Amino acid sequence: MTEIIDGDAVAQSIRDDLSTAIDQLDAEGIRPSLATVLMSDDPASETYVSMKQDDCAEVGIEAIDIEIDPDADGSELYDTIDDLNADGNVDGILVQMPVPDHVSDREVLRAIDPEKDVDGFHPENVGRLVAGDARYKPCTPHGIQKLIESAGVDTEGKEAVVVGRSDIVGKPMANLFIQKAPGGNATTTVCHSRTEDLAAKTREADVLVAAAGVPEMIDGDMIQEGATVIDVGINRVDADNEKGYELVGDVAYESAKERAGAITPVPGGVGPMTRAMLLYNTVKAAGLQHG
Ligand code: GUN
Repeated sequence: MTEIIDGDAVAQSIRDDLSTAIDQLDAEGIRPSLATVLMSDDPASETYVSMKQDDCAEVGIEAIDIEIDPDADGSELYDTIDDLNADGNVDGILVQMPVPDHVSDREVLRAIDPEKDVDGFHPENVGRLVAGDARYKPCTPHGIQKLIESAGVDTEGKEAVVVGRSDIVGKPMANLFIQKAPGGNATTTVCHSRTEDLAAKTREADVLVAAAGVPEMIDGDMIQEGATVIDVGINRVDADNEKGYELVGDVAYESAKERAGAITPVPGGVGPMTRAMLLYNTVKAAGLQHG
């Protein structure tokens, strides 16, 4: 029987543990806080930020909600980040990506104090991750490690294949898989849009992470029997329903389920874990600021 990995349930148990940790911090007079900065009127970005705010409220993290007009000058965003960096009551800072085209996302990520960079995207934090000395593990790959662990799968010595080479998922995921640490020690291959014979690579995978942003690109016959399949994709495709669209992953779920040993659904797989690990990093940030 294929195990359907329940990301909502694993995320809930992480939030429950964090609530307990936050209660303990509260007894010491510390209330973790996260500032979210949104400079976009993209409805998907607005939804993601408001879900992150709701998660903070559930576990007892103070959420500071900052919105900047997407037509404003970039200096407005940089000034906001400077203020948040200097504010002793702010533990974590998250600038929702993407920012408008007239602002450099690279420069924005560099402007955030690395100790408050709960996404783990600042170059100092990327470097520490690669060096095996992570301060903040990026939320999506960290959440994926937790999902794999929850399915009782040990990555040590296994073939891990990551499809996609983004800075947010593919690259840090591959880095975590090769580390000498629990959730790592895997022989790791990174595939991307220029990979020749993708199916030959994915069929080798004991653990397959699909993070290319291409709807249903991985189907059942690209998967080894019994593999653990993690679907990071959240793609909107046109559908004949009320909303006019539906969400599908990078994995063709029905055919993949026939071959996988364990698989994440979309939605309800990786998405809730990304959000849970952001809370985890924020609690860690509070420890660094006040410890
Ligand atoms: N946009 C899409 N995913 C993310 C994320 O993990 N963090 C931030 N800051 N922006 C995003």
